[in-house]
Amino acid sequence: MSLLFQPGRIGNMELKNRFVRSATVELLCTDEGHVTDEYLRAYERLAKGGVALILPGNYVVNPLGHNYPKAPTVDNGEVIDDLRKVVSVVHEHGAKIVAQLNHAGRQADPKLIDAKPVGPSPVRDKMSLVKPRQMTEKEIVKTIDDFGEGARRVKEAGFDGVQIHGAHGYLINQFLSAYTNRRKDEWGGSIENRMRFLVEVFQAMRSRVGPDYPILIKINAEDFAKTGVHPEECVVHCKKLEELGIAAIEVSGGIAEKGLNTIKGDLPMDLFLEGRGPVERLMVRLMRGSLEKSAAFEEGYFLSQATTIKKNVKVPVLAVGGLRTRKMMEEVLESGQADFISLCRPFIRQPNLVRLLERDDGDPISCTSCNRCSIEILFHKKPMRCYKS
Ligand SMILES: Cc1cc2nc3c(=O)[nH]c(=O)nc-3n(C[C@H](O)[C@H](O)[C@H](O)COP(=O)(O)O)c2cc1C
Repeated sequence: MSLLFQPGRIGNMELKNRFVRSATVELLCTDEGHVTDEYLRAYERLAKGGVALILPGNYVVNPLGHNYPKAPTVDNGEVIDDLRKVVSVVHEHGAKIVAQLNHAGRQADPKLIDAKPVGPSPVRDKMSLVKPRQMTEKEIVKTIDDFGEGARRVKEAGFDGVQIHGAHGYLINQFLSAYTNRRKDEWGGSIENRMRFLVEVFQAMRSRVGPDYPILIKINAEDFAKTGVHPEECVVHCKKLEELGIAAIEVSGGIAEKGLNTIKGDLPMDLFLEGRGPVERLMVRLMRGSLEKSAAFEEGYFLSQATTIKKNVKVPVLAVGGLRTRKMMEEVLESGQADFISLCRPFIRQPNLVRLLERDDGDPISCTSCNRCSIEILFHKKPMRCYKS
């Protein structure tokens, strides 16, 4: 039997195959963040479709951390009843579910949070032009606690584990990266100091969820910024996390201001320009060359970084980013480059993808990384579905 369909394990989680649905913003909840029937149906479809492990779109840990509307926030106990329903539909169909917890930091949407976004240092985001307010020591300590409390709530709701969002230019990645973290206190400077926030987030979670509950991370091995995180630095992060007891590491890359590195594929310029004002349109046109470069697709575009991490840790590694053919997915597992195959856009188009792959040995994946879903969902805030024309 192909390794793709052999069971795997992350911490104490038994997974029926090696497929993971990478965290995906859905915009399917109400404006107040309550779970809707549509949200539940989307997760039921995915679970029925055969994927072993599902990560819903990032759940935000405090009111300053929002990047997208219409998602549950885990900053209060009222959310637990809603989350129980999500866990229940997924478990009913034999899949596991892990909640990704996030704080967007300087990539938070100022309109959504109705305040100036915060970050480790006041480094302006060149894409959104947001210059964040530097977090105070007190805010840092409070935010660490919020991550811990968020983890406690998702455990109470029945999730099988929790994933720290340490990637994609959000707050944890901002602390890790010398590009966005210019602090001179104990939270910045040396790599140990820049890791302190993540280490304390991990410890705050662990203290709330107990010793055996799986805590995973999605981490940037490459920020694509000059002084940003790069693979050798990420190895140091991952070794430390392994020492602390991380259950698995999903290896990704890219930050918002550096374009479409996270979601390489086509750059549908018509959609990308839609709804932007004259200044933004001009900026996008000026940046077109670098945007196109950032989006240039090759299959398995973070595989070399995942392989580097895999060589340096013993915990399971999840490969993500442009995995599109059965052949490559099998090779990744057989060669030991990674232990799990994590996909996002293909599951938006084909939630039943794993069943299709199981049915015969053909190559049924029809996602072409056209990125119309990325633009419609992430930029135009439309609900999660395939927008391929
Ligand atoms: C619409 C959309 C929403 C996403 N939302 C999240 C998210 O909430 N958390 C996260 O870590 N990554 C998010 N991502 C990134 C994906 O999880 C994944 O890392 C990336 O799309 C590459 O995988 P793929 O080539 O299989 O799509 C999102 C990507 C897309 C296209």
